[in-house]
Amino acid sequence: MKFFADTAEIDAIKDLAATGLLDGVTTNPSLIAKSGRDFMEVTKEICAIVDGPVSAEVVALDHATMMKEAEVLRKIADNVCIKVPLTVDGLKTCKALTGEGTMVNVTLCFSANQALLAAKAGATFISPFVGRHDDNGFDGMDLIEDIRLIYDNYNFATEILVASVRHTTHVLQAAKIGADVMTAPPKVIHDLFKHVLTDKGIEGFLADWAKTGQSIL
Ligand code: E4P
Repeated sequence: MKFFADTAEIDAIKDLAATGLLDGVTTNPSLIAKSGRDFMEVTKEICAIVDGPVSAEVVALDHATMMKEAEVLRKIADNVCIKVPLTVDGLKTCKALTGEGTMVNVTLCFSANQALLAAKAGATFISPFVGRHDDNGFDGMDLIEDIRLIYDNYNFATEILVASVRHTTHVLQAAKIGADVMTAPPKVIHDLFKHVLTDKGIEGFLADWAKTGQSIL
């Protein structure tokens, strides 16, 4: 499973990249606004930190303007992945861009049928929002299971990018279902490393090691 960081915070991205476990980054207009940074500038910096796909989202609603925005965004770096909303115009843009060899992440997916459309449009990634799904009384993981089944039925190459991840259980469930990628806020990725028994185990081993009076170095 690939791990993407869902943030536009440079320090947090550098910190995660240093673990060697970061495969990409996703941003959206809300995350750019939260960073307080210039969109083009911060996206360029992120693209230089990670080798993998960095999603940058268009804000136009019509196909023609989305294409113009994508043209500007894809010049930022070779690893920019254009993010488009799951609308008719978004999927027209997806089809055109992927046809030209540009990576596209189709975002704001809330149904398996929408995911089917995105795959037919040649999306590189489909982003079902599990957290927002849960918030509205649905089960986000049912959606991931349905998409996995459909994509496997037809051997679609589109990768399932589980988005709107809120906690480590979402990551575990998505991995069990076989999602290709998950994008999560840095805190959730850091939480994946933690276990109380790991901390307790280290504490016990170090206490016993101290009793030996030895040193490795
Ligand atoms: C994905 O690409 C989105 O940026 C993100 O996961 C949305 O998450 P949220 O529902 O926590 O805003």
